[in-house]
Amino acid sequence: MTKLLIQKLEQIENAFYLSSVQVRELAKKLQTEMTGLPGQGSLQMLPTFMQLPAGSETGTFLAVDFGGTNVRLQLVELLGRGQYAIKKQHSFRLKDPSGRYDFTARETTGEALFDFLAGQIASFMEGTFATSLGLTFSFPCRQLAANKAVLLHWTKEFQTSAVVGREIMGLLAGALADRGLAHLQPAALINDTTGTLLTAAYSNPHADIGSICGTGHNTCYFKTKEPAMIINMEAGNFKQFALTAYDRLLDSNSRRPGTQLLEKAVAGRYLGEICRLILLDMVEQGLLFRGSIPALVRQQQTIDTSELALLAADNSPSLLHIDRWLAARQNIHPTTLTDRQVLKKIALTVISRSARLVGATYIGILQQIDPGLQRRHVIGLDGSLFEKMPGYLSKVRAVLREVFNDKAQSILPVLTGNGSGIGAAIAAAVCADRQT
Ligand code: BGC
Repeated sequence: MTKLLIQKLEQIENAFYLSSVQVRELAKKLQTEMTGLPGQGSLQMLPTFMQLPAGSETGTFLAVDFGGTNVRLQLVELLGRGQYAIKKQHSFRLKDPSGRYDFTARETTGEALFDFLAGQIASFMEGTFATSLGLTFSFPCRQLAANKAVLLHWTKEFQTSAVVGREIMGLLAGALADRGLAHLQPAALINDTTGTLLTAAYSNPHADIGSICGTGHNTCYFKTKEPAMIINMEAGNFKQFALTAYDRLLDSNSRRPGTQLLEKAVAGRYLGEICRLILLDMVEQGLLFRGSIPALVRQQQTIDTSELALLAADNSPSLLHIDRWLAARQNIHPTTLTDRQVLKKIALTVISRSARLVGATYIGILQQIDPGLQRRHVIGLDGSLFEKMPGYLSKVRAVLREVFNDKAQSILPVLTGNGSGIGAAIAAAVCADRQT
């Protein structure tokens, strides 16, 4: 490596490194915002009117998980004792990869989107019986009741027209009625973080935080102070941390600049793009790929976050997997070992910052809800970063230990796969129990 390259890498690593002091500062700022007046900070702290389950709820429910461009329908049977079974499931995309339709685009209306959704539900329900529906709708909403919520604004680069400001369950119920499915009772509408917390709490009474780091990022927690309920923090909108020049560029290229800054620094929708921007900077300075700019680096959104997992996990001596990936996927061949080492380092740098930022937010929440860490806390986690990114969860655990030392033993972050789907069924059951 040349001196210039080493200097540049150090500069990048320093810009992305979150020291212990910065972790504590971030946690403190987040905690302060949690107690501030609603609407004043960058956290939205949205009431959900949702309680935690007892674990004994039973019944069969249709769970609709609308979290991103992939929607999942599941027929979930809750068996009590924290157990459940998925009887049937079907997933579909809102954006056709071959470009035939895109229900996330500005040109599409909410009516068309929910009619498409209802059509999929109608086919799914053929030969299937359920009377109650739980919807997970993973966008910031003002909750009017446990089964009614108004979309405040889109995130995750969605742009569908005529949905912002509308009551979502009403849109879905109307579209279902048009298809002869009026008997499906809209029992609950929740955020995916709430779903994850409900799922963790269904089998573990110590669960009081739920968090997602997948396409998007967000966290919720159970507020014990009256009125006790789950609060959807919309933590992805948190802003009080240091941004790098790459974060600023990414933000200014995004659909809603200035919003969701934490999400843009930690979530799957954006991490690949941050890496691309770093690579572009390095190539432009003649530090990588012998200064020639490959299409991979020139065009926006060419690196998927799942590919960062491959870069970060290549432990072969000559970084063979990275070499193959560059050749096959990016048509960059031959590459030098230095090029490949740089790629790996950048991927690791961006991933580590994400894990430390996310961990720092949990520290702030825990300090707020249980300052002396007197109780046990289970944090339900879902999303591709936790599930698939090598070393990610260990880094989150490490930052908790760094700040809480031995007391970190009372905090248990657990993977709660499919929390947003199962959670919709649990929410429907909790609401049904409340009415009887
Ligand atoms: C949304 C949240 C959601 C998170 C994870 C964010 O973009 O604003 O409501 O929980 O993504 O899906």
